[in-house]
Amino acid sequence: MAASFAALILAAGKGTRMRSARPKVLHELAGKPLIAHVLGAVAPLKPQHTAVVIAPNQNDVAAAVAPADFVIQRQQRGTGSAVAAAKSLLGRYPGDILIVAGDAPLVTRETFKPLFDARRRHPDAAVIVLGMRLSDGGPYGRLILADDGSLARIVEAADCSDEERAVDFVSSGVMLAKAPVLFDLVAQLGAHNAQGEQYLTDIIGLARGKGLVCRTAEGDPAQLLGVNSRDELAYAEAVMQQRLRYAAMESGVTFTAPETVFLCADTKLGRDTIVGPFVVFGPGVKVGEGVSIPAFCHIVGATIGDHAIIGPFARLRPGAQLADEVHIGNFVEVKNSRLASGVKANHLAYLGDSAVGEGANIGAGSITCNYDGIEKFRTNIGKGVFVGTNSSLVAPVTIGPGAMIAAGSVITDNVPADALALGRARQRTKPGAAKAWRAKRKAEIATRDAKPQTKGRR
Ligand code: UD1
Ligand code: CA
Repeated sequence: MAASFAALILAAGKGTRMRSARPKVLHELAGKPLIAHVLGAVAPLKPQHTAVVIAPNQNDVAAAVAPADFVIQRQQRGTGSAVAAAKSLLGRYPGDILIVAGDAPLVTRETFKPLFDARRRHPDAAVIVLGMRLSDGGPYGRLILADDGSLARIVEAADCSDEERAVDFVSSGVMLAKAPVLFDLVAQLGAHNAQGEQYLTDIIGLARGKGLVCRTAEGDPAQLLGVNSRDELAYAEAVMQQRLRYAAMESGVTFTAPETVFLCADTKLGRDTIVGPFVVFGPGVKVGEGVSIPAFCHIVGATIGDHAIIGPFARLRPGAQLADEVHIGNFVEVKNSRLASGVKANHLAYLGDSAVGEGANIGAGSITCNYDGIEKFRTNIGKGVFVGTNSSLVAPVTIGPGAMIAAGSVITDNVPADALALGRARQRTKPGAAKAWRAKRKAEIATRDAKPQTKGRR
């Protein structure tokens, strides 16, 4: 689609409107930082270079953009100065630079198509801006066209006259510019405007003043929304969730109530998996085929094999690795545990830091006691083990294959293969003792109530 170009992503802004201690581009959409969404959309276009402009002292942003190059904008004086900061990296690049704001996380590779199409139509244009039509241009820069249809200038919302504000064709912040012209123009930007910033958008007027021609292309506003506030972040999240649900359904997944299921950008769901209402997938989840996940499950960092049944009301935490046909029932929590095929833990159990062999059955209310308050320990449960109801397996402990744990046991020692372990007090039964106790209590109460009551206080 795209001819050769370099990508420049602007991510050094202060993000003031987010009112956050965290850099704006590290806020997440579907479990992935905004900036990673942008990089992910640009990568398939195969830019010759990809560089991100970041603010000083933001090692976490630099780490999030790797392996893309980053360049530091020393002073956040606006989008124009952000581009100028990239001169050290891209100043000698002879071709087009694709500029994208790091806060536009809904872009996909298709978003840029109209821009590259316009470049083919207008090989001489100095800059081509990807615009969008909005009924209310809101905070976006207005695209002011010349009579010949070329782009005359961009006016930022804060600097608009009433007439300009009414323009419904606005800048998405995405543009394609010839690198030598771009770096020449941004070096000439002033900051005589409402925000006292060097606006990148002012390069259009500057270019025109030099007799250069700028153009526009038209993109899809649903893909170009910028995230400047928490409110816009929530809106973008809703759009992203809809996209992810749609893609999952397209690939053969059933959602009973799609609008109640929350996915992450990296959630993988196999064909013919059925997801009930109110299921939340956190990052790092991979689900096999034909899996059934009824309502109200919370699943993060887990791998689930084919034909497993999870929930309702199950919680799978990071490191839960479930083989095929595992059954995890209501109020069961699994963390950092490998469950071999056919394992069943159907009610009220906790499996943490454990390995459970094929076909083992974990009874209701059974718990791996993996933590002594200081360190975590592992529990190994062999193939075909039967753990009776309400047992505590105090780690580190190993239950050999085929062993049985009697209900209500507290198991502190290893159990050999095929053994039966009982770790509880022996039951005593006293015939008639309950009846005798009740009779005694009733007699005591009758004696107490028969005593004359003392009236009033003395
Ligand atoms: C910008 C555009 C506006 C456009 C809109 C599209 C300008 C002056 N305005 O406005 O025309 O309609 O995007 O979403 O360009 N940044 C830096 N360094 C800075 C300032 C900003 O790297 O000094 C980065 C930000 O991190 C952000 C991007 O540039 O990713 C855009 O900055 P932002 O302040 O969000 O600009 P808008 O007001 O949205
Ligand atoms: Ca913005």
